[in-house]
Amino acid sequence: MKYVIGIDLGTSAVKILLVNQSGEVVQEVSKSYALIQEKTGYNEQNPSDWVNQTIEGLSDILQDFNGNPEDIEGISFSGQMHGLVLLDEHNEVLRNAILWNDTRTTAECKEIEAVVGKKRLLDITKNPALEGFTLPKLLWVKKHEPEVFQKAAKFVLPKDYVRYKLTGKLHMDYSDAAGTLLLHVSKREWSEEICKLLQIPIELCPVLVDSHQEVGYVTEEIVKLTGLSPSTRVFAGGADNACGAIGAGILEEGKTLCSIGTSGVVLSYESSPDKDFHGKVHYFNHGAEAVYYTMGVTLSAGYSLTWFRDVFAKNQSFENLLSEITSVPIGANGLLFTPYLVGERTPHADASIRASFIGMDSSHEQKHFVRAVLEGITFSLQESIALFRKYGKRIDTIISIGGGAKSDEWLQIQADTFNAKVIRLASEQGAVMGAAMLAAYGCGWFKSLKACADEFLSVDRTFMPIQENVQQYQKLFSIYQEVYQNTKGLNESLVAFRK
Ligand code: XUL
Repeated sequence: MKYVIGIDLGTSAVKILLVNQSGEVVQEVSKSYALIQEKTGYNEQNPSDWVNQTIEGLSDILQDFNGNPEDIEGISFSGQMHGLVLLDEHNEVLRNAILWNDTRTTAECKEIEAVVGKKRLLDITKNPALEGFTLPKLLWVKKHEPEVFQKAAKFVLPKDYVRYKLTGKLHMDYSDAAGTLLLHVSKREWSEEICKLLQIPIELCPVLVDSHQEVGYVTEEIVKLTGLSPSTRVFAGGADNACGAIGAGILEEGKTLCSIGTSGVVLSYESSPDKDFHGKVHYFNHGAEAVYYTMGVTLSAGYSLTWFRDVFAKNQSFENLLSEITSVPIGANGLLFTPYLVGERTPHADASIRASFIGMDSSHEQKHFVRAVLEGITFSLQESIALFRKYGKRIDTIISIGGGAKSDEWLQIQADTFNAKVIRLASEQGAVMGAAMLAAYGCGWFKSLKACADEFLSVDRTFMPIQENVQQYQKLFSIYQEVYQNTKGLNESLVAFRK
């Protein structure tokens, strides 16, 4: 039997899977690392933590593996998008990575739109300037840490840095490059025009590759540290959302994904780069060759639930926390939550907005809050679905992955809120499976990623919308949509009190 390894470098942990030729998960391991939040809106990580935890995880996998390491034919990656890793001329890290959920760059976003022009920026990158993207972070470092910027020779994204430490080769794939705001998305090349206008030396941009492209082998040192074979081929990999899409089989028109991890996304396949969503949703290169996807993002999806658990129910497991939500009616007895814990992206690109519980009442117990959090996260994703539908996309079947697909009750809430059929896959693994599939395809096991998906993925259960519930959620959703406008001004006044 032959195997591949998928590595997903997430925001809270690196997840590693060993997968065989039938797509069965033979081993899995997860290693967590810390988030560094020095100030409100700041989210950083130490790239060495990613590397050390990945090496430890690989070594754990190899220790428990009773086959021949040479049978592990390939490795590929999925990674949290947009995070800025700045390297000097010796490829040494210059500062902590600034992550996708860091919102310090509102001024830089305004600068980009003023200098490049909103329309031109959309023409080239297909996206507006948002705080989470990489280019605003580059400009922030240039302005606030000029001594660091001066030493910079290259920038990469989180998983690119880990891949570099495993192989000694520096690259970036198109699906992740699309989230930098420096890529000409349809031409698949770095935009000289944007670099020139914003005085970013184009030499900072790494070599571009396709996600399934082979980039080398693991180094001798990694062989020693992990037990991997020097013959293991390494493939570039992709952005976590592109890999989530691959891992859920979103590889043809008409397929939509709902992924609830730390962030939440609704993502739909596009075969061409020329549909016009007026910049209201993200439009990125897919991990499959020369195709695209559109996507709406909720910054704090699963993170809202983790935050709630950590602050109010410290020692409870998620299963325990969710176990009572069916005894709470739709609408949690008049309690509504908006998940803007770290600001928001879609449909409100707003770094200052913060979360709310509206309608707290003395009858509310912990279970009402939990249901309100789940409903609020789902409403936020429904905002993206509503946008897709407004621009003419038909969304009637959604594949749900991530933490949000672990609970039957939450999947039913999704089906009722989205008014669509929601599918849970058998042994769903999300982005990390997409990474393993890129390695399987790269190794030549399949003719296409789609053929790999047909072999590796199957449906476990379908949740149909219940029309009575759909009506109730539609009423609640219109109340939810008013909370943003009504709390925007209040939150702006509160900025002065945030430390
Ligand atoms: C997408 C985004 C997040 C991260 C999470 O634009 O910022 O989904 O990729 O890892």
